[in-house]
Amino acid sequence: MTGAVAKTLFIKTYGCQMNVYDSARMADVLAPLGYALAAAAEGADMVILNTCHIREKAAEKVFSELGRLKPLMARKRKAGGRMILAVAGCVAQAEGAEIVARAPQVDIVLGPQTYHRLPEMVARLARAEGAVLDTDFPAEAKFDFLPEPDGEAAVSSFLTIQEGCDKFCTFCVVPYTRGAEFSRPAAAVLAEARGLVARGAREITLLGQNVNAYHGASPDGGTWGLGRLLGALAEIAGLERLRYTTSHPLDVDDELVAVHRALPSLMPFLHLPVQSGSDRVLAAMNRRHCADDYRRIVAKLRAARADLALSSDFIVGFPGESDADFAATLALVREIGFAQAFSFKYSRRPGTPAARLAEQVPDAVKAERLAALQALLSEQQRRFNEAVVGRMLPVLFERGGRHAGQLVGRSPWLQPVHATAPPALIGRVVPVAIERAEPNSLAGALASQGAA
Ligand code: 5AD
Ligand code: SF4
Repeated sequence: MTGAVAKTLFIKTYGCQMNVYDSARMADVLAPLGYALAAAAEGADMVILNTCHIREKAAEKVFSELGRLKPLMARKRKAGGRMILAVAGCVAQAEGAEIVARAPQVDIVLGPQTYHRLPEMVARLARAEGAVLDTDFPAEAKFDFLPEPDGEAAVSSFLTIQEGCDKFCTFCVVPYTRGAEFSRPAAAVLAEARGLVARGAREITLLGQNVNAYHGASPDGGTWGLGRLLGALAEIAGLERLRYTTSHPLDVDDELVAVHRALPSLMPFLHLPVQSGSDRVLAAMNRRHCADDYRRIVAKLRAARADLALSSDFIVGFPGESDADFAATLALVREIGFAQAFSFKYSRRPGTPAARLAEQVPDAVKAERLAALQALLSEQQRRFNEAVVGRMLPVLFERGGRHAGQLVGRSPWLQPVHATAPPALIGRVVPVAIERAEPNSLAGALASQGAA
């Protein structure tokens, strides 16, 4: 047999879309070494845990997963093989040294900036140089070293344009784990987008921890903000829909507001986290905006695009949050009206300024506030979904549904829509008559069938 020996790779992905994207790129860079993706860790030649640090007890979860992998590694060894074990992502970045110390079975620890060096690390390992620790931020951008992926692109694809964050919200680990803000050059983004569309993508969601802080080098020698970049992307033929996530209110500039008015392909749905409705808490969070700033920004966006729907992130029980502070959050939610939202109990992240604050809120209070906020948000989501029943919505079909003969797609507002439809409609934007709203999705019928 010649060429790379066939090997299997299992990647377990935790957390955000950024990690889903990163996992796909890690699979891409390892493919030339002969690694094909496997559905389970059992028997795999390499296992990567692509970790996320945002949730509570993230590190503990990783350590217990590492424990579960031990017998699998032993079985592989008994069978005459070897399972390479790597920990990637934000937990690796934040706790690399501890992982090496506490879990000696781990071969590779790598931070988010070094994925392009995975093949090198695996090769070094094969030459038996011992465990490899690589969480430094190299000066070069990792993107320039990742090979162009080939094969089909997802109808709705993700494209990372920005990484890192310089905002330093006092509860958040991202500025420490993902490092300083970095924007990819506009030309590289445009080239990747054209490639995705050529391979079948019809929707692209631009990703970044702080995506609207984007300030990439432009072809004309200057820099472009996100608005300019979206304008250029909108000119790619065949690219029907554009989205971007996650944004910071402070980085919503006039150019970005203007493209929401000007670009029909920019979808009228925006994830714009506010975290709290209390100015006191927002200041303690170092968010650098107050509740009225958020109201003003939303008003501007809605003036530009009347059907714009909003999503947000909320934290309840931030240190020092009083009943009055929490009431201000509920008031802001009632006033703005969200189509969807994520809400979390504040959790102490070691190393962040808020973790050191006195006045931590008792868990029972956090739980009570979370339940109240989530009840209000679910009610708003239900109303938002029910409001489209009876309407005809353009749906971009993405894949087959749970039931035979069904397809699943998305409305302009990111609502999943199920309908009976032929597979030929995958990748097409089709009018669908919405018949029913479920808690998290919509059911409809193709316009032609609806009329029959
Ligand atoms: N505690 C609770 N929620 C947090 N988030 C980030 N850090 C924390 C924390 N320490 C939430 C924020 C952010 C989302 C991705 O996760 O709401 O917007
Ligand atoms: Fe974290 Fe977002 Fe704040 Fe950056 S803007 S520090 S990623 S919460």
